[in-house]
Amino acid sequence: MGITTNICTVLENSQIASGIYNLTVKTHQSADAKPGQFVNIYCEGKTLRRPISICEIDKNLQTLRFVYQVKGEGTKWLSRVQAGQSLDILGPLGHGFNVSKARKVVFVGGGIGAPPLLETAKQCNFIPDAILGFKSKDFAILIDDFKKYCENVQVSTDDGSLGYHGLVTELLKERLQSDCDLVCACGPKPMLKAVAKIAEERGVECQVSLEERMGCGLGACLVCVCKVKSGEGGFRYAQVCRYGPVINSKEVVW
Ligand SMILES: Cc1cc2nc3c(=O)[nH]c(=O)nc-3n(C[C@H](O)[C@H](O)[C@H](O)COP(=O)(O)OP(=O)(O)OC[C@H]3O[C@@H](n4cnc5c(N)ncnc54)[C@H](O)[C@@H]3O)c2cc1C
Ligand code: FES
Repeated sequence: MGITTNICTVLENSQIASGIYNLTVKTHQSADAKPGQFVNIYCEGKTLRRPISICEIDKNLQTLRFVYQVKGEGTKWLSRVQAGQSLDILGPLGHGFNVSKARKVVFVGGGIGAPPLLETAKQCNFIPDAILGFKSKDFAILIDDFKKYCENVQVSTDDGSLGYHGLVTELLKERLQSDCDLVCACGPKPMLKAVAKIAEERGVECQVSLEERMGCGLGACLVCVCKVKSGEGGFRYAQVCRYGPVINSKEVVW
């Protein structure tokens, strides 16, 4: 069926951490959804839909799960939507992670960057590892979910209130001293840049999900463009919504 707009039914929309919500909807769009893709959600009073990553797909139950943080008016409105209400969703959109050839994947999630990695971890051919970093324990999400599908789940917090006191990049440097052939990362851009550098130095392939600000989400408005390498030292602009959001880190002009 491909990309469709659908008025779907909200099954659950509840707070799971400070300002962070778990949203599950019933929708036929689950049939076409792939890990690392996103949807554009209509939020009342907003002209532009808000992009949110697909966190889990259940094709049997025909559900999609999302985990989102309240940032501004759109996500604030979303947080007030109740189970049983309808939600207008456009998707699935973009291209996700490609883990099909990897034997050992390490997922690196920074804060609200963790959700799109979860379904990807589920769909790995071999059991992956995960490193998840948060501001503090109040913002920690999805740790038990990752433990279901990963061998080792390491957690770090900026303030040391949970797990390792420090940055995910410090844990990644240590982790890459042993077996790994692909790093998949999602989080703030400075974190992605640092993760890409570490992976490159160790000769490990790295795919990053770039969550740029977006307009249409469909390749029509150019709001989301980022610079990607092209030819000998040159670059071109790519629409993150269509070309990505997941891109090989070596292509990105940081
Ligand atoms: C492909 C993609 C996937 C995403 N997946 C998720 C997800 O799974 N969970 C989640 O919580 N959020 C996700 N986001 C970010 C989410 O779309 C924004 O937080 C949301 O659109 C903010 O809308 P708002 O109306 O609440 O806030 P606005 O009023 O639009 O903005 C409030 C603040 O958030 C900042 N902001 C808005 N969009 C972004 C963005 N893309 N990146 C960084 N800062 C932003 C603004 O600069 C502003 O400071 C994703 C974004 C993209 C592009
Ligand atoms: S958001 Fe419009 S082109 Fe990407």
